[in-house]
Amino acid sequence: MDEDTPRADGGTERAEPTEDVALDPWGSASVGDYADLFEEFGIEAFDDVADDVPDPHYLMRRGVIFGHREYDAVAEAMANDEPFAALSGFMPTGDPHIGHKLVFDEIIWHQRQGGDAFGLIADLEAHSARGMSWDEIDEHARNYLLSLLALGFDAEEGEIYRQSDNREVQDLGFELGSKANFSEFEAIYGFDGETNISHMQSVITQTADILYPQLVDEPKPTVIPVGPDQDPHVRLTRDLATRVRYFKVTEAFASFEADEEVHQVIAEAYDDLKEEAQKREIDTIRCGWAAQYIEDGTDAVTWDINEFPDKNVVSAGTEPSPERDAINNLRNAVKEPLRPRVRFLNRNATDEAFEALIEAVDGEKRVFEGHVDAFEMTRGEAESLAREVEIGHGGFGFRQPSSIYHRFMTGLTGGKMSSSIPASHISLLDDPEDGYDKVRAATTGGRDTAEKQRELGGEADECPVYELYAYLLAGDDDELAKTVYSECVNGERLCGGCKEQAAELMREFLEDHQEKREEAEELLEDVDIDLDSDRRGTGGEH
Ligand code: TRP
Ligand code: SF4
Repeated sequence: MDEDTPRADGGTERAEPTEDVALDPWGSASVGDYADLFEEFGIEAFDDVADDVPDPHYLMRRGVIFGHREYDAVAEAMANDEPFAALSGFMPTGDPHIGHKLVFDEIIWHQRQGGDAFGLIADLEAHSARGMSWDEIDEHARNYLLSLLALGFDAEEGEIYRQSDNREVQDLGFELGSKANFSEFEAIYGFDGETNISHMQSVITQTADILYPQLVDEPKPTVIPVGPDQDPHVRLTRDLATRVRYFKVTEAFASFEADEEVHQVIAEAYDDLKEEAQKREIDTIRCGWAAQYIEDGTDAVTWDINEFPDKNVVSAGTEPSPERDAINNLRNAVKEPLRPRVRFLNRNATDEAFEALIEAVDGEKRVFEGHVDAFEMTRGEAESLAREVEIGHGGFGFRQPSSIYHRFMTGLTGGKMSSSIPASHISLLDDPEDGYDKVRAATTGGRDTAEKQRELGGEADECPVYELYAYLLAGDDDELAKTVYSECVNGERLCGGCKEQAAELMREFLEDHQEKREEAEELLEDVDIDLDSDRRGTGGEH
């Protein structure tokens, strides 16, 4: 990542949190402090993967895309020319605006990087959660799709669909729904007894949307570019993707189950004991010796097949800890050999599938009631085998989906960008002159007087106009974004001229985009989607 590129967060000191962190897909799209999302929800900083992305998009370079979940998997597939996909969805509740353009661009970029690309119209959600009529939905859907195509989505290569018309998505949603329950929806979304059932159905449909690219062809890394308000959906889907799996693959050292931390303790003990055992020409390390080792160090190990710690003694008065659990487990296993292995745990497999898996495990193996241990396979090989057997026996074999999150744009009038305040945002359908005027009228990060501005410099980090440059107007031109930023903060740039330049660029962008939208009419004709639905009913919340 280019260190000089000015970033959307300006790299400034972390501000005090201004509001509680909450991610609500149907609430107001604003985030007080993006850094809180990392700790609170386990979203990871995009910087951590940025270097693995072959040729990052400008939204990545400028820190507009600030967070991710497991994007490494997608970056890796991209770098190795392996299959991957990108999918996002749009609720057709109004006109597409410059915030949606970020997501359109992200899908299109992934398509150009070689990914399978999907854009969907979330009509079930718009109808059930927002009470949009089917006619309104048809009209808005059309407008979203024209912009998506105008910006360069290749509909011949990629796929566009509406939730209500995609039978496979509906079927998948039904299946995933059998692994989720109401309490969970309550906890994740704050649903309660008043929430309409179709709204819930639209949620499970979204989890199916997110996994749909893996259904089309084969399981593959899939990125969902969205705003952080959609993270609850991503988290739920990542969970469900795992819950429907037939097998879980883990690593182990003995027949008992141990969680990740306990496993780590045992792994370290194993490494140390192995060396010692070699010196003593002992082939088989026993679990009981490892317990002695963890508890009291190398000298405590008896190396005697008849001398083990008493398994009924709970590890000496210690607090619960991974070490204590490791010791107790190892004591109980006494003479059992301590040997690294990969384990296939049976989660949801049919008897047939479990039998087939056992059959397919190469090399030495041990079969237990709910799991099978393989001694001559790597974890990677085991994961592939588990997936293969699952798919061969009527399962999905999903990978957990990845996601990337972009910052929300500040409204042109300061505060939130909101479709209910027309002056705060720019619709992709705005008359180019109106677009020009809105930018000219925008709030800035400028000082009260020109004199002060020259002296102190402007506050580009606080400026919605600078955001317009960074998120949209500068496009791929990092030089332009950098120049605006540094001229601003150095006091060489005054807001009047800066806004004039931005306003003109906005006008040009809108003119150009709307011309392309007209050309896209023809492309849309060829897309297999019904934008004239004959559905009836008035839907949910109005
Ligand atoms: N809930 C999303 C929104 O409010 C729309 C959506 C539906 C979506 N399915 C999706 C987004 C799948 C990403 C992936 O805009
Ligand atoms: Fe914003 Fe431009 Fe003014 Fe700087 S000069 S505060 S970027 S409008």
